[in-house]
Amino acid sequence: MPLHKARISPMDRGFLFGDGVYEVMAKIDGRIRARSLHAQRLRSSLDSIGLETSVEQVFADVDRLTKKVGFSNAKIYIQVTRGPADARDHAFPSTVSPTIFLTVSAFEAVPQTASQAIVRPDIRWRKNHIKSVALLGNVLLMQEARESDAQEVILYRDEYVTEASTSNVFVIRGQKVVTPPLSDLILPGITRHLVIEIAQKLGILVVEDNIRVDSLSEADGIFLSSSTRGLLPIIALNPGGCVGNGELTSIFSALQDAYDERLRCYD
Ligand code: PDD
Repeated sequence: MPLHKARISPMDRGFLFGDGVYEVMAKIDGRIRARSLHAQRLRSSLDSIGLETSVEQVFADVDRLTKKVGFSNAKIYIQVTRGPADARDHAFPSTVSPTIFLTVSAFEAVPQTASQAIVRPDIRWRKNHIKSVALLGNVLLMQEARESDAQEVILYRDEYVTEASTSNVFVIRGQKVVTPPLSDLILPGITRHLVIEIAQKLGILVVEDNIRVDSLSEADGIFLSSSTRGLLPIIALNPGGCVGNGELTSIFSALQDAYDERLRCYD
């Protein structure tokens, strides 16, 4: 239906509590990039919050919608919440009727230009492996970036880098690329997964290891990864100043070229 006709109850727990999860996928040349990985992550987010919904049915609805809308390049948003309840009670209602909200909007995957990031403490909750719709921490952090003329926020907890407010973090050190290991502190990014795969194919060593925030200023290069922005090179940090010599490294360019080339190949 047209967006302006969609109606959601004000008692929806997604609205009242942020009680829901989501996915964002890129459709490129008519195919959803890494569809099965997104489906798996949605399954895992739903399981983590104890919400029973058929992921197969959600993806069947996505297919119906994308077919109807017709864009061959699109951004697909999926949100599943625990639905409306009669009363505002923090604990789950006895009967749950999930709300499933899908949108398809026009989108072009374009190579990203050199950008800046602010570096801030990770103020979010402790279960960032769940793709929760409760994003107030991320919202406040991204607004701070916007007001500082930066395009992202690199986050750290207990002196170690976690991720960025809407993306995962990679640090280039010489011929090696380092990214924080998967844990409940970060989202298991689909693009992160693809970058690791691409690097392996190119013979570039990727190490999943903790990154001290005070080591960021010694990096030769930094880039961030997400489904919507692909690989986003960061050439300046605040605080921290210039990253490396302020230019894109050859490793980054090789990864970005390979990523762009293979964007269409991931089912
Ligand atoms: N964000 N970390 C966070 C906190 C994110 O919100 C995202 C994605 C990522 C990268 O994940 P992926 O590679 O699967 O897109 C990492 C999406 C794009 C969003 O919220 O719009």
